[in-house]
Amino acid sequence: MPTILITGASRGIGRRLAELYSAGGWEVISACRNPAGCDPVGEPLALDVGDAGSIAAAAKALSGRSIDVLWNNAGIYIDKGQALKDLRAEDWLESFRINTIAPIMLCRALLENVAASGLRKLAFTTSKMGSVALNSGGAYEYRSSKAALNMAVSSLAQELAPRGIRTVVLHPGWVRTDMGGAGADIDTTQSAAGMKSVVDGLAAGQTGQFFNYDGKELPW
Ligand SMILES: NC(=O)c1ccc[n+]([C@@H]2O[C@H](COP(=O)([O-])OP(=O)(O)OC[C@H]3O[C@@H](n4cnc5c(N)ncnc54)[C@H](OP(=O)(O)O)[C@@H]3O)[C@@H](O)[C@H]2O)c1
Repeated sequence: MPTILITGASRGIGRRLAELYSAGGWEVISACRNPAGCDPVGEPLALDVGDAGSIAAAAKALSGRSIDVLWNNAGIYIDKGQALKDLRAEDWLESFRINTIAPIMLCRALLENVAASGLRKLAFTTSKMGSVALNSGGAYEYRSSKAALNMAVSSLAQELAPRGIRTVVLHPGWVRTDMGGAGADIDTTQSAAGMKSVVDGLAAGQTGQFFNYDGKELPW
């Protein structure tokens, strides 16, 4: 039975991913900041992705275990609707800490767990808002943090390809969650099922691509 670890599995897209993989017979490790408060799917793991000590403790707890898919999904969108005049440097740094730096630090901490697995996949929930080619303006903090995530994963893909580790960044669509809001286009099932099918379908050696949840490739 393959194993997946999903961050931000307490609610929204991450929780739905956990439910779908669990229903598909996978062993699911639901990484949440506060497992006691969210009734996690599968095996709970306490993890605040922005806290180096929490990442180290999670890596220690998982030492020697294979992780077939490490799905970095946790994210924040602090500057939703904010104008340039309202941006705060502290929020911008926090956006980078959680959306850009944390996923790479977690991958580094769990690299040998993934390398030891059969499937060896790293998935990242990014956003179309991190695409320079598709930029429609605004959201300086969120957009730049996701664009930087995309660049960091592009480097990771190149570094890890010789070890047979495949990486993919995925736009989940505009999804009805706490972050996406009630007026968004699609529900978490459509988003998570679509992204799961992209990740499940990655061919041997296929790495370093940016996909929409429906399988369409997106421009960087
Ligand atoms: N919804 C959309 O339309 C949309 C569009 C494009 C991209 N995305 C991306 O999709 C991903 C999931 O978004 P969502 O819509 O499901 O958002 P959401 O409903 O707001 O959920 C965010 C998740 O991230 C977790 N999280 C935030 N900070 C964390 C931290 N420091 N450590 C651990 N977990 C943390 C939250 O945990 P807590 O419960 O502990 O707060 C929660 O599980 C994000 O990366 C987001 O940027 C979403």
